[in-house]
Amino acid sequence: MRAAVFQQPGRAVAIEDLILDPPRAGEVRVRILASGVCHSDLHVRDGEWPRPGPFVIGHEGAGIVEALGPGVDPAATGLTVGRLVALSWYAPCGHCPGCLAGREWLCSDSGSSRHRLADGSTRTHRADGSEVFPYCGIGTLAEATVVPVSAAIPMPEGTPPEVAALIGCCVSTGVGAVLNTARVPAGSSVVVIGLGGVGLSIVMGAVLAGAATIVAVDQVAAKLERAVELGSTASVLAGDDPVATEARIRELTNGGPDYAFEAIGLAGTIEATIRLLPPGGTAVLVGMTPFGVRAGFEVFPFVDGSRSILGSNYGFAVASVDFPRYAQLFLAGRLPIDRLVERRIGLDGVEDAFDRLRAGAGLRSVVTF
Ligand SMILES: NC(=O)c1ccc[n+]([C@@H]2O[C@H](COP(=O)([O-])OP(=O)(O)OC[C@H]3O[C@@H](n4cnc5c(N)ncnc54)[C@H](O)[C@@H]3O)[C@@H](O)[C@H]2O)c1
Ligand SMILES: [Zn+2]
Ligand SMILES: [Zn+2]
Repeated sequence: MRAAVFQQPGRAVAIEDLILDPPRAGEVRVRILASGVCHSDLHVRDGEWPRPGPFVIGHEGAGIVEALGPGVDPAATGLTVGRLVALSWYAPCGHCPGCLAGREWLCSDSGSSRHRLADGSTRTHRADGSEVFPYCGIGTLAEATVVPVSAAIPMPEGTPPEVAALIGCCVSTGVGAVLNTARVPAGSSVVVIGLGGVGLSIVMGAVLAGAATIVAVDQVAAKLERAVELGSTASVLAGDDPVATEARIRELTNGGPDYAFEAIGLAGTIEATIRLLPPGGTAVLVGMTPFGVRAGFEVFPFVDGSRSILGSNYGFAVASVDFPRYAQLFLAGRLPIDRLVERRIGLDGVEDAFDRLRAGAGLRSVVTF
C-alpha cells in the first residue's frame, strides 16, 4: 500500500510502498477513503515536536472496515466489513484512571501517544522488513491502516467520508472545546483567534452552543469570510499592531469576551487571549505550541478578577459517543463540516498542503483515495 512516510524532522515526507500485515486480536484493518492534513502533522514534519521516524503520518482520517482481527465481535463493536469508521487519534486503553473515570482524553496508557498499536508493535513495514510506525496509532495518510478497535468509530449511515475524516481531528477538537471543555452557556460572548480547521470548528461549536456574540480573528482575510458564513457575528483582521487588534476585539465584546479560544499555538496570541479576558472570563487554549514554549501573564489582575485558563486536548472527546453525535448534527444540517474542505488532493500533494498551512492559505486540504 502507498503511504506518506515521515523519516526525520525537516525532511519532506516520502510516498512509499509498504506492506501491511493482517489485523491481530483487538484490531481492524481499514481502507482509508479520506484524510485531512492537520497542523499537528506539520508540527511533526517541521521538527517542532521531535519524534523519531519512520512513521506513516496523518491522524485525521476515515475509511471502510476491510477485515476484523481474530475475536473482534461485530455485534459488540458495531464493526462490520464495509462499515464507514472515523478514526480516533487517541485510542483509549480502557484501564487507566483517566479511562475508568470516562475521561479518555487523559488516557495515560494509550498506544497512540507512543505511535504504536496497543501491544507496542506495528503492522506496517518495508519490503526489507524494517518497521514503520503509525502516527498516533492510526497513520491515516495511507491507502490502508490497522488500528485498535477502540480507535475505529462506526459512523451513521450517509456520513460522507470527508466529513467523517474531519470529525477525527479538527471538528472534535474545536466543537468539543466549546461544548465539553468550556461548556459555553447560551448567550455568551466568544472570541476565536486563528481560523484553520480547528478555529472554524470552534466557531461552529459556538453557534451550536447559542453564543450571542462570536468574534472571529485571523491574519488572513479569506478566513474571516468563511467564519462569517459559518455563523460568526463579527470579525477582526489581525494586523501588524496587536494593540489595535485587541482594542477592536474589546470594543466588539463590550469590554472583553466571556470565552476566548486560541487555535494557533503561538506564545504571542496565547498571551493576547488571556489579556483579553474581563473579570470572570475564561481562556481556552487549543492551539499547540512547539515543545518548550512558555507564555506569561500578569498574575494579580488574573487572580483578583477570578479569571480562568483551560487547556483542551482533543475537545475532551469520548470518541465513541461524540463522533456519531457530530455526524448526526452534520446530517441534520446543523454542523456544516463539509464547508471546511477546500481542496481534494492525492498523497503526493501532502507537502504542498504543508506549504499552504505554513502560509495560512486556504482551508482544509483532504487527501482522497
Ligand atoms: N488541542 C488539541 O487537541 C489539538 C488538536 C488538533 C490540532 N491542534 C492544534 O491547533 C492548532 C491549529 O490547527 P489547524 O490545523 O487549525 O491549523 P491551521 O494552520 O489550519 O490554522 C491556523 C490559523 O491561524 C492563523 N494565524 C497564524 N498566525 C496568526 C496570528 N499571529 N494572528 C492571527 N491568526 C494567525 C492562520 O492564518 C490560520 O488560519 C495547531 O497548533 C494544532 O497543532 C490542537
Ligand atoms: Zn489534528
Ligand atoms: Zn487509558
